[in-house]
Amino acid sequence: MHIIYPGSFDPVTLGHIDIIERASKLFDTVTVAVLINQSKRCLFTIDERMELLRQSLKDYDNIYVDSFSGLLIDYLKKRDVSLILRGLRAVSDYENELQLALANRSQNNDIETVFLVASPEYSFLSSSLIREIASFHGDVSKFVPEVVEKALKLKYEEG
Ligand code: PNS
Repeated sequence: MHIIYPGSFDPVTLGHIDIIERASKLFDTVTVAVLINQSKRCLFTIDERMELLRQSLKDYDNIYVDSFSGLLIDYLKKRDVSLILRGLRAVSDYENELQLALANRSQNNDIETVFLVASPEYSFLSSSLIREIASFHGDVSKFVPEVVEKALKLKYEEG
């Protein structure tokens, strides 16, 4: 079975990587699908976000990185996939995720969302928290792959 893990990944964190790695053992293939956000301003461009994912996941041969714009269900249809993967950190994620899963299923009843619970060491992590720590030159080395740490340093030096 093929599952799609959609998200903004601005940038990818070790919390995301943990979910992706675990899913790669449960499913034949996992495609990480990066949203080309039109409205949301991102720190990293779509190409940068995809490249950071590719480098972080280069050792896995059943994990792929792709991008999509528009509705997730349209992308799933195009790829002929009916499974969506999402991670759940705390109870606070549940409301949003429930809304997203039900909205997607309301558009297409065959779509199922599969949730993996985040490992406790990453349950507080988010890309926005990482951006904030890095913007003040704090240490994010425990929370992101090395390539991301380097990319954040470059971004905030430039800025
Ligand atoms: O990493 P994020 O920002 O939590 O990911 C959210 C994402 C990309 C999964 C969600 O916003 C999404 O699927 N956006 C695409 C537009 C869409 O299909 N929205 C669902 C409403 S029916």
